[in-house]
Amino acid sequence: MKVEKILHMIGGVGGNSYANNSKLQEKAILKTKPMVEEAISDICNTIHTNNFVVADLGCSSGPNTLLVLSHISNAIEKHYCQYNHKQPEIQYFFNDLPSNDFNSIFQLLMLYEKQLRENKGADYVNLYAVGLPGSFYGRLFPTKTVHFFHSSYSLMWLSQVPKGLDEKNCAQLNKGNIYIADASSSIVYHLYLNQFKKDFSEFLRSRSKELIFGGKMVLSFLGRKNSPAIGDLFNLWSLLADALNSMISEGLVEEAKLNTFNLPIYAPLMEEVKSVIEMEGSFHVDQAQIFESNWDPFDDSTDNFFINSTLSGQNVAKYIRAVLEPLLISHFGDDIIEDLFSRYAQNIARHISIEKAKFVVLILALKLKE
Ligand SMILES: C[S@@+](CC[C@H](N)C(=O)[O-])C[C@H]1O[C@@H](n2cnc3c(N)ncnc32)[C@H](O)[C@@H]1O
Repeated sequence: MKVEKILHMIGGVGGNSYANNSKLQEKAILKTKPMVEEAISDICNTIHTNNFVVADLGCSSGPNTLLVLSHISNAIEKHYCQYNHKQPEIQYFFNDLPSNDFNSIFQLLMLYEKQLRENKGADYVNLYAVGLPGSFYGRLFPTKTVHFFHSSYSLMWLSQVPKGLDEKNCAQLNKGNIYIADASSSIVYHLYLNQFKKDFSEFLRSRSKELIFGGKMVLSFLGRKNSPAIGDLFNLWSLLADALNSMISEGLVEEAKLNTFNLPIYAPLMEEVKSVIEMEGSFHVDQAQIFESNWDPFDDSTDNFFINSTLSGQNVAKYIRAVLEPLLISHFGDDIIEDLFSRYAQNIARHISIEKAKFVVLILALKLKE
């Protein structure tokens, strides 16, 4: 399955949209802000330009898309104000796959620009924004034209389900699961890891051609802390597989359908990420951090349990739905969706009433090697 043809978050601004269910990802953007500011400041100190080119890769649509834009453009402004220098104009590329809801981004952008003009004067223009549909697993820009690449919560998406997992004759390989699970053979884990290595290398190779020397990238994406295959993300997908399996036992989903469905996602260890960076050879790791966030982004408590596991189960199911629904519909059809996510919410609630599950997010700042 080629992800770029199918994958998109739920667009628009409805109750199930990504725009209204992306608080978890917002937390990662806020956490990454200091690294973004530092990277921008380093670039501004090294490169003098009147046209600062930025690309947000896997920008999706909704408030997060604009939050990233505001962090980057404020960081550029702050740097130049500090030295009383004339600010460069910013050319800003919103990149995502072709079926992303680019229209919603530009509607939000109009509001953002209106606010800017209210604060800074009616003639104020320093931002030229462009939508750029296409996969970041390949070239998107001409050679040496971009100063800063940003990407949040996107690089765990693979370009495809690992070869060998989505074909009918391999359906037994990961039977009953949709990702690497406790019951999966080590072959499944290696197929996923190899696909990640191939994709991430291609990502780095493409960006290394496009980045201006002295430019930087700040990347954040889901990862894991333990090797080889244990962790909360495995549980998150196992609970979804459980919901699908319960629907199979009631005759609501065909078993063969489940056996040919696997998620095109891989959450790497930091060591795996660094080893791909080293093997590919173009980039140097400037900074690398790991942080954890609760499965339910509305529950910030540090206790060992969620305050209301039923509500948290519903919250988690809702934001997973905003991300996975189009992919699930393309494979299973849309009849099962309501039932599936209601079972999923219950499974999550049960799971988190026993342990407080967390996501692991990897953040890296990279620059080209000399
Ligand atoms: C969870 S959303 C993150 C959106 C936003 N960056 C945020 O932090 O809220 C992941 C986005 O990555 C995009 N994506 C996944 N694979 C991609 C690829 N190969 N090229 C471009 N975008 C991709 C998806 O379409 C989706 O919009």
